[in-house]
Amino acid sequence: IFSAVEMAPRDPILGLNEAFGADTRTTKVNLGVGVYFDESGKIPLLDAVKRAEKTRIESLPARGYQPIEGAPAYNQAVQKLLFGNDSPLLAEGRVVTAQALGGTGALKVGADYLRRLLPDAKVYISDPSWENHRALFETAGFTVETYPYYDAAARGVNFDGMAACLKSLPAGSIVVLHACCHNPTGADLTEAQWREIIEITKARGLVGFLDMAYQGFADGIAEDALALNLFAASGLQFVVSSSFSKSFSLYGERVGALSIVTASKDESARVMSQIKRTIRTNYSNPPTHGGSVVAAVLSSPELRNVWETELAGMRDRIRTMRQSFVQKLQAKGVAQDFSFIIKQRGMFSYTGLSADQVARMQNEFGVYAVSTGRICVAAMNTRNIDYVVDAVAAVL
Ligand code: LMR
Repeated sequence: IFSAVEMAPRDPILGLNEAFGADTRTTKVNLGVGVYFDESGKIPLLDAVKRAEKTRIESLPARGYQPIEGAPAYNQAVQKLLFGNDSPLLAEGRVVTAQALGGTGALKVGADYLRRLLPDAKVYISDPSWENHRALFETAGFTVETYPYYDAAARGVNFDGMAACLKSLPAGSIVVLHACCHNPTGADLTEAQWREIIEITKARGLVGFLDMAYQGFADGIAEDALALNLFAASGLQFVVSSSFSKSFSLYGERVGALSIVTASKDESARVMSQIKRTIRTNYSNPPTHGGSVVAAVLSSPELRNVWETELAGMRDRIRTMRQSFVQKLQAKGVAQDFSFIIKQRGMFSYTGLSADQVARMQNEFGVYAVSTGRICVAAMNTRNIDYVVDAVAAVL
């Protein structure tokens, strides 16, 4: 039965990890996947996480099934983090949240549910977008199209193109928006631009699906929730996928959430019942450990403080790497102006390197990047940055 099965292509991002793992060169550097590595090149285990884990493990908790939608303590902590402690939406019972398997799991549950709710809708993602967005929504059964987003020549957002496209979409179209730290470009909308997008969303009757996987990696936890809070204040109903993979450095624990803002408490109850159906037929209910650790950190003022300081440390280190990368390229005599990298937000830089140049970096230097020219700045450190700069300079 499997004789005619064709080999599927490697995943454009996670496939790089496989190739990187098989590379025997000791100088290799993985700038592919969006993972934060510390100065010593390791994925950090945050102190806040360590402390919450220790307490949890010492209590030797039983491992019963969780509720289908995850633990209430986790879901409430997520809602407060996203919408703020005093959010009127929370007081009115207008937000439903379900724990999900990372940001990808949240997107998938949201996509499956929306496909049942709006079977005729098309999904619009930014051009470019995270590699997995298209595949994920297509797998859920949607036709996926793009809206203009990045202006490669200007190294910024093509806002006029984006706005004009959204204004032309039929009512009920689903628009996937990167709430902060746009992946892959690092180019975000300004507050005024978000306000305009919200007006268009309202006027055209669009369904906003905000994907927020990098909260805290641009300006801070509250600051990076700007788009979400503007949507919340607008009276619109919308969908949010969020993730703690990066902000808690809990990639493998798969801790994320799907939140849906409805029009009323009654609507919330009905929507949640449908979300539970979607989850039950996918994976039944989420795992316990990661969610309980995140809930413990977020609900302890002390641990939360530790976490926010650690997150700020990650954010600052990435900024330093951006500056250092640009300076070193200049010092190396690279003529092209790379100063735009300093302005990009989040973990990534959309370097403008071509697929051929990326392939040469991989083949000749063992420096891995996504073929679109996206590099993960958070994987650079003071020991590997000169080698990366040499590789980039050589292929330019
Ligand atoms: C990335 O874009 O590299 C991350 O979001 C990891 C992933 O799942 O692709």
